[in-house]
Amino acid sequence: MTLPQDSTVRHETVLKAPTPASTLREWASPADRRVRIAKTLEFGPLGEELGMGHWGVVYALESPWVVKITVDPTEAPMWSKLGTLDPLLMAGLARSARIVRLLPDMPFEMEEFPVFAIVREEADMFLAQVPGVVPSERTLQELGQAGFNRVRYALGKYKVNAELYHNENGAWNNVEPSVRVRSSIEGMLNYAEKLMELPGAELLGGTLYHLTSKGIALRDVHLNNIGWRKYEIPEMGRLPSGLMVTDPGHTPTRFSMARPIPAYAVNR
Ligand SMILES: Nc1ncnc2c1ncn2[C@@H]1O[C@H](COP(=O)(O)OP(=O)(O)O)[C@@H](O)[C@H]1O
Ligand SMILES: [Mg+2]
Repeated sequence: MTLPQDSTVRHETVLKAPTPASTLREWASPADRRVRIAKTLEFGPLGEELGMGHWGVVYALESPWVVKITVDPTEAPMWSKLGTLDPLLMAGLARSARIVRLLPDMPFEMEEFPVFAIVREEADMFLAQVPGVVPSERTLQELGQAGFNRVRYALGKYKVNAELYHNENGAWNNVEPSVRVRSSIEGMLNYAEKLMELPGAELLGGTLYHLTSKGIALRDVHLNNIGWRKYEIPEMGRLPSGLMVTDPGHTPTRFSMARPIPAYAVNR
């Protein structure tokens, strides 16, 4: 029997495979491009990297703003749609100030991905920035371990129902909804209501409830995609502190034409 080759090496190769986000980080890294991105956005210089997910990278701007640069094709159209809704009902969502497309597109594997930038309010993230499900300091301060577990449970259930809804083509299908679609909508409303009853999660629950009742089921609201409001931003109308969605992406959307998204070249 031949022994397998060194498995550690193979494992590392898998872990290091580029993701859309790590490729985007390279795309955004040349100093002259960073300056052009900042000039285009007009929210101060592009600062330190605050985090990276699968599709996007987030950078600091002038307080209270950050910018998410992403190749998730659904996120910018979703932000643009959400920006047309009543700001008070959207208090459980980070506020956005600018949505643009940046050119050139980003090559990844065999495709070219449109790049979008969304300027949104900075949050204290719900989880600590370490591997695993670990509450952040602010989360423990606000909720304690028991409150953390309750939010985790209700949000997890909301997400399961949102996935079921999208798997049943709920986002596209305006004709007779199937029993499973109806029960997933009831499930989302039910767990959004449960969130509304949990101290700290009232705004988050209220916004998810309102969106669900309008037929907008955010498919990927998990613990890495929520955070605490950090700034009041009085010029946008004061909002109370609380948990909010920071990343409404990864959701099949019929809103690609909600508002035209302006495009700017950042390569020259
Ligand atoms: N509004 C924000 N304020 C501060 N940090 C943020 C904010 N939004 C995202 N981040 C950080 O950036 C990371 C990636 O952002 P996210 O929008 O979830 O990207 P992806 O679409 O790739 O999942 C988050 O996990 C978080 O650490
Ligand atoms: Mg995310």
